[in-house]
Amino acid sequence: MAAPRGQWSGKLGFILAAAGSAVGLGNLWKFPYITYENHGGAFVLVYLGAIALVGIPIMLAEIILGRRTQLSPVGAIRKLAAGRAGGSAWTGLGFLGVASGFVILSYYSIVAGWTLRYTWMALGGQLEALAAEPGALGTFFGGYVADGSQQILGNGAFMLLTIGGVYFGVKSGIERVARVLMPLLVLILLAMAVYATTTAGFGKAVTFLFRPSFGELTTHAVLEAVGHAFFTLSLGMGAILTYGSYMGKNESVPLAGIAIAVIDTIIAILACIVMFSIIFTFDMDVTKSAGILFTTLPAVFYQLSGGGLIASAFYILVAFAALTSTISLLEVVSSYAIDELKWTRHQATLTMGLAIFLFGILNALSLGAVSGISNFSPLGSAHAGLFNTLDYLASNWMLPVGGLLIAIFTGWFLSPKETWDEMRQGSPGCRSLYDGWLVLIRFAAPIAVGAIIFSIIFLGMEYQ
Ligand code: PHE
Repeated sequence: MAAPRGQWSGKLGFILAAAGSAVGLGNLWKFPYITYENHGGAFVLVYLGAIALVGIPIMLAEIILGRRTQLSPVGAIRKLAAGRAGGSAWTGLGFLGVASGFVILSYYSIVAGWTLRYTWMALGGQLEALAAEPGALGTFFGGYVADGSQQILGNGAFMLLTIGGVYFGVKSGIERVARVLMPLLVLILLAMAVYATTTAGFGKAVTFLFRPSFGELTTHAVLEAVGHAFFTLSLGMGAILTYGSYMGKNESVPLAGIAIAVIDTIIAILACIVMFSIIFTFDMDVTKSAGILFTTLPAVFYQLSGGGLIASAFYILVAFAALTSTISLLEVVSSYAIDELKWTRHQATLTMGLAIFLFGILNALSLGAVSGISNFSPLGSAHAGLFNTLDYLASNWMLPVGGLLIAIFTGWFLSPKETWDEMRQGSPGCRSLYDGWLVLIRFAAPIAVGAIIFSIIFLGMEYQ
């Protein structure tokens, strides 16, 4: 007999868990550096537009698909597509989601592992010693990522924490972790934001973020903003769909979806305020990629009074944010095994967690430790190594394609009668909101995401 399907304890449980999935390295690491590269202001505005017009509609679509079927992606799409023209082909969309979860987790947990190491070094004082020596942070970071056993260790430790969260189920595992970590994360970030207001760079940071100068906005920036809206809201691979499948019918879909997007956005903006205030205070140069989090910031933290405390709090914050995201990635893969292969939750979590960890070893060794996989570049030298190749494939292809198909499936394939019937439950008075959503999911979202995919194929653009 299969165990009864899990459910959140209530509205707050779902919102916290889904916000936990959304808030992650995308908010604390990627958003600040792409905002910097795209000159702030106007990019931030376009990003907010992308969240509202593309992100929120697809988020609501995923919640509708999940809650309607009470199944994870493969089962959900199969059930809804059954008996209609082209029915079984759509099941591929469910499998794409499971594959995306597997692939993203296999490299995301490596960067997450770095946050554990940096937390440890901040607490133990080693980070301060590195920051005191010019150039030492960069040298350390380069050596650290190329050290295969360190990378496997960090990845393994983070996968264990992730498995621990998923193993105990929807309410006593995933929700419990989110209930503890999310408020702590918000507290730490707010405390840092208050501190940031006292730094000399605060005014400059606010101007940079909120005074748009449209002359600096490029087409690439617009597409990058839309692409990032997907990654940061955990859309396009069924994570929100799966979490939505544990949601009760008496809760409001639009309210929950909008709350999640608002929380995610506020946290991304606060992270920018904190980081840019500190960075502008010392006129630091922000370099691309991982640099900002692991080499630029530690250097500036220790120039502030109470630097040790700030650095420790910061890396704990990033580790927390990453953990609630990795938990949602593993849940997508595990729930496939639970729903479709009828495994128990414990079997599914341990087996899938172990499989992803083992596969992730290849990624861990592709940052310099083993030259064959570190130089593996089937997609060109801009994505050298398995880690970068998979990151590129997932963020540029799997999520946008998954998101486009979810928008088309929900907007055009399901009847408005069905989608309205689902949205109505828990929020009967939202008819005009529903009508607005239908227009966005049918037109705005597919056109915007279609433009991304078109530009990747024909204009050679990238969204990293
Ligand atoms: N949204 C997460 C972040 O911002 C990443 C993520 C993507 C998590 C897809 C789950 C699914 O870091």
